[in-house]
Amino acid sequence: MYNIFPHLGFLLRANKGLLQNRDEFHAYIQATFVEHLKTLDKNDQRSFIDAFLVKQQEEKSTTNGYFHNGNLLSLVSNLFTAGVETISTTLNWSFLLMLKYPEIQRKVQEEIEKVIGSNPPRIEHRAKMPYTDAVIHEIQRFANILPLDLPHETAADVTFKGYFIPKGTYIIPLLTSVLQDKSQWEKPDMFYPEHFLDSNGKFVKKDAFMPFSAGRRICAGETLAKMELFLFFTSLLQRFTFHPPPGVSVSDLDLSPAISFNVIPKPYRMCAVIRS
Ligand code: HEM
Repeated sequence: MYNIFPHLGFLLRANKGLLQNRDEFHAYIQATFVEHLKTLDKNDQRSFIDAFLVKQQEEKSTTNGYFHNGNLLSLVSNLFTAGVETISTTLNWSFLLMLKYPEIQRKVQEEIEKVIGSNPPRIEHRAKMPYTDAVIHEIQRFANILPLDLPHETAADVTFKGYFIPKGTYIIPLLTSVLQDKSQWEKPDMFYPEHFLDSNGKFVKKDAFMPFSAGRRICAGETLAKMELFLFFTSLLQRFTFHPPPGVSVSDLDLSPAISFNVIPKPYRMCAVIRS
């Protein structure tokens, strides 16, 4: 509602909480900059913030620079929100799907035992784990956490498939239209890891796998996100088996999403049982 009618924002109570949270979050990030600045060493840059602050000091003499505090705040808060919410939402879906499909969970655990054993998972293991890789890809395809992508704007007049789209048009690219395209997926509405496996059990890439969008503004964290998902998912399934709580059967588990900015599962309870 707020996106569509920003001028009515003052009427929306939820908006107040949102802005308050944003201010608190920004204050936290700004306090972090102050801490970094106190111990900044040009020859020992510890982080993205340090690298930015060094650039800022180099640029001090210019007036119209990019490396000002407002940009640092936007960059760090964008990276933080884009990186945290997406990964936690995808993991949230992954647990629910493992509860719903215990057979699939068991097959992932078998592959973990075979390839990783009890060692800490490393990213190099992924290439030897086609089934787990396929399951993680299918979690992302099925969860479809950003079905409307992020909004874009045409930078020039465009004619696309016979439609004229003038410069400055607000565009919502529907990732759902590819992630659930009937011509691309055998079972578009089902959780089916075989979408990413050939008949020999080898992992196959799919052009229609686009949860990170496409083109020049594709998710800046795609590689990092894929690493994080693999490491978190395998570490957790190496140590735990996830079950529905006593009294809840697999058929009771609801895969329909809750209403939110991104697509999250409805709240659910689960038991994490340590594997011996
Ligand atoms: C499951 C994980 C993730 C998914 C599904 C995801 C998805 C997306 C999507 C769909 C976009 C919009 C692309 C567009 O404008 O068309 C995006 C943008 C972005 N993502 Fe991610 N993302 C994930 C994780 C991350 C992580 C871990 C980071 C970094 C820490 C990150 C940083 C960004 C940034 C900075 C942008 C804006 C890029 C730009 O506008 O040029 N994302 N992401």
